[in-house]
Amino acid sequence: MKVGILGLGTVGGGVVNVLKKNGASIERRTGVNIQVILAAVRDIKQDRICDTSNIKLTEDPFEVVNHPEIDVVLELIGGTGLTKKLVETAIKNGKHVITANKALIAKHGNKLIQSANKNKVRLLFEASVAGGIPIIKSLEQGLSANKIESLAGIINGTGNFILTEMKEKNRDFDDVLKEAQSLGYAEADPTFDVEGIDAAQKLAILAAIAFGTELQFDKVFTKGISNITTEDINYATELGYTIKHLGIAKRVGNGIELRVHPTLISNEELIANVNGVMNAVLVKGDALGTSLYYGAGAGEEATASSVIADLIDIINNQTSNHILGWKSQEKLTVIDTESIDSEFYLRLLVSNMKGVLAKITGIFHQYNVSIEELIQKQIDENNNAHIVIITNKVNTKDIMGIKAAIEASEFNQDNMQIIHVESLD
Ligand code: HSE
Repeated sequence: MKVGILGLGTVGGGVVNVLKKNGASIERRTGVNIQVILAAVRDIKQDRICDTSNIKLTEDPFEVVNHPEIDVVLELIGGTGLTKKLVETAIKNGKHVITANKALIAKHGNKLIQSANKNKVRLLFEASVAGGIPIIKSLEQGLSANKIESLAGIINGTGNFILTEMKEKNRDFDDVLKEAQSLGYAEADPTFDVEGIDAAQKLAILAAIAFGTELQFDKVFTKGISNITTEDINYATELGYTIKHLGIAKRVGNGIELRVHPTLISNEELIANVNGVMNAVLVKGDALGTSLYYGAGAGEEATASSVIADLIDIINNQTSNHILGWKSQEKLTVIDTESIDSEFYLRLLVSNMKGVLAKITGIFHQYNVSIEELIQKQIDENNNAHIVIITNKVNTKDIMGIKAAIEASEFNQDNMQIIHVESLD
């Protein structure tokens, strides 16, 4: 099988290295010799993480997608502009395409898969979600007897690395982000990681596969981790929770919840102990019940593992390329986030005066919201205090009402921090 690669960066270089290391055993497994014959790179003279002595390099990516001998194109450059054109061209030229590009699939996947079906080629994207974890294959194959009820996951390695280092080593957000960039975890624009866009793209893909719907990336409620402070992390710890950045997709009646946001999870839940760049996706199916998929969510060889597994699927002819793995789609409307019921963590900054706590609890009473736990701590010599509250399960609209009422009060000193609290297992 002759392969062409678009991009020899972290993932492309990892693919070449893993094929070099494991090519012989993959050939024994499949009976097919995989040869990377051509790779498009931005600058031919640049140093690489892989040996390119047997690969012809070009600076023209169209040479790869138009090459008559290439059977499969690996799209590992990212982006949605030129890349979309390259993938469309490869498909039209009758080549299978494997991509790690979640942005491309989340935005244009519906059309690209239809085009692949029309041209009788495969478009596979296991590496686009959760790096090396075979979560798409698990949903499409291993869990295919189940009706999926929900999934919840840590699906951005950079964000998880940042939250873990902040919690365990008390490190500064920006300093950890720089390290994540140097380790090759972060996106070219790391705001995609810290503002949750990367996770929202991955969640849209997972939900479409799990529920058999079209991709609905533009409807995912998305909140990043940039406003999570060390104080929030420490208060959560004091209350027995860990803050994780989660993507959650849940079937509710004829609708689905699609949301990405920081979440407090009890330390006793398995997913609370998934640290560093590791990702994990918890899936609830009606036959199997709960199952958990755990592994490296980013990095050279971990992501290469998923790309090459897709190559082997093409060799074995295993994956059918219907619309996102389903022969027909179900129409599930995305539920408006304001109507979602959840427990919440709230952190208020207030003047520490007589009667303030009574006023706050009065506002909670007015909205019929019960307080599960409460911490009060004086934080400075100006007599300002943090009040940290965990609520019972309430409607998001009521929490927004409480936020507005407290922020309008004379004792309030800052915007209220609001973080979801979820139980998953
Ligand atoms: N930037 C992504 C992450 C890479 O940190 O998870 C893998 O998709």
